[in-house]
Parts: sequence; C-alpha cells; structure tokens
Amino acid sequence: MFYDARTKAPLKHDPVKALVAPRPIGWISTLSREGVANLAPYSFFNLVASGPSIVAFSSAGRKDSQTNAEQTGEFVCNIASFDQRDAVNSSAATLPPEVDEFALTGLGTLPSQMIKPPRVKGAPAHLECVYLQTVPLFSKDGVRNGFDLVLGEVVGVHIDDQFVKEGLVDTAAMRLIARLGYLDYSVTDEVFAMRRPD
Ligand SMILES: Cc1cc2nc3c(=O)[nH]c(=O)nc-3n(C[C@H](O)[C@H](O)[C@H](O)COP(=O)(O)O)c2cc1C
Repeated sequence: MFYDARTKAPLKHDPVKALVAPRPIGWISTLSREGVANLAPYSFFNLVASGPSIVAFSSAGRKDSQTNAEQTGEFVCNIASFDQRDAVNSSAATLPPEVDEFALTGLGTLPSQMIKPPRVKGAPAHLECVYLQTVPLFSKDGVRNGFDLVLGEVVGVHIDDQFVKEGLVDTAAMRLIARLGYLDYSVTDEVFAMRRPD
C-alpha cells in the first residue's frame, strides 16, 4: 500500500510513528528559574552526535521542559525503564509550571553532579546535559509546525553499577522502554551483535 503523507490517505491514522520505531524516551528533568523541579517524557528524542555526545528532544509547542532548559541552560535525560513505565506516563500530565512532577508522581530524586536539575531515583542511567540551542522546525513550504528541537551536550553520565559488566553497559538488563505508534511501547530485553565490515 501507499500512504500519501500530504493528503493523509488512505489510512485513518498516520503510520509514520509506527514505522520510525522504537523511539527512545528522554525523560527530561529540569528546574525552573524559580527552582521548581519539572519532569516529562519526550519520545521525539535521540542521540544525534557523539564526541561530544549531543542529544535532542522536540517540543510540540513551548512546554515547561523547553522553557526551563533554555532559561537555566541545563537538563537531565533520565533513562526510562520498564519498571518505571507508570511514572513515565503519569509525568506527562499537563500541569502548570509551579507544580513539581516529582512530588506528584511520588518519585524520589538524586542530586546531579555537574548541573542543578535533580535526577530520577531508580532510573538505570542519567545523562547530565547543558543546553546548546533550539532549532524551530518548518515544513518545506515554510509553514511553522509548532515543534522546536532542543539540543544539549552530555557532560556527565550516571549508570547504576548493577548494569555495568566488565566495563560495558548491559543495555538489555536495563529493560529500556521506547515509543512505537498509537498507544504502543516496546521494551528492549534482547540484543544481538554484529561486527562492521572493514
Ligand atoms: C511516552 C511519551 C512521550 C512523549 N513525547 C513527547 C514529545 O516528544 N514531545 C512533546 O512535545 N510531548 C511529548 N509528550 C507529552 C509531554 O510529556 C507532555 O506534554 C508534558 O506535559 C510536557 O511537560 P512539560 O510542560 O513539563 O515539559 C510525550 C508523552 C508521553 C507519555
């Protein structure tokens, strides 16, 4: 079949998110200028460069995570695991900036080492990031679609010791969750390795 992305036919639901899948979840914690903690999941999220590592999340309209990252210059990408899936979902509730999602979800916090925003207790890993820039997104015909891509450099990495084996991260053991299309998620609990050709 062929789905025309412009006319949105013939499928009732846009299939693209079910195809560019799984998309990792950046569970972003920030502090407001006033010092209120904020936490929200972003699945338009990925590692987009290495050396130094640069991550990006895309905000559908200006939301607190973007505002806080821009205003304070810092954010944490907490790595979302299957065990914390309900808290990931609860932290997506639309709330005013003065509400602390950590308090609301009952999640504990851990201090960061190089930046001020707290980390999610119980997450298998955390990336401490400093804000780099925001790229507003436009379609080919110049129409603003409302998304802003927020880029940050990873300056510190925390990994729960139980997931480090002989100096390597056991990603499958972390049971990371990711978004597919519709209401679907995936969990990474099986991996395979391949050596690249010379
Ligand atoms: C799994 C998941 C992934 C999400 N991904 C995004 C995303 O990539 N971009 C976005 O703007 N909103 C996304 N949302 C919705 C935001 O988490 C939600 O709007 C949240 O209230 C934003 O919080 P903030 O204003 O504190 O940043 C997602 C929600 C869930 C449950």
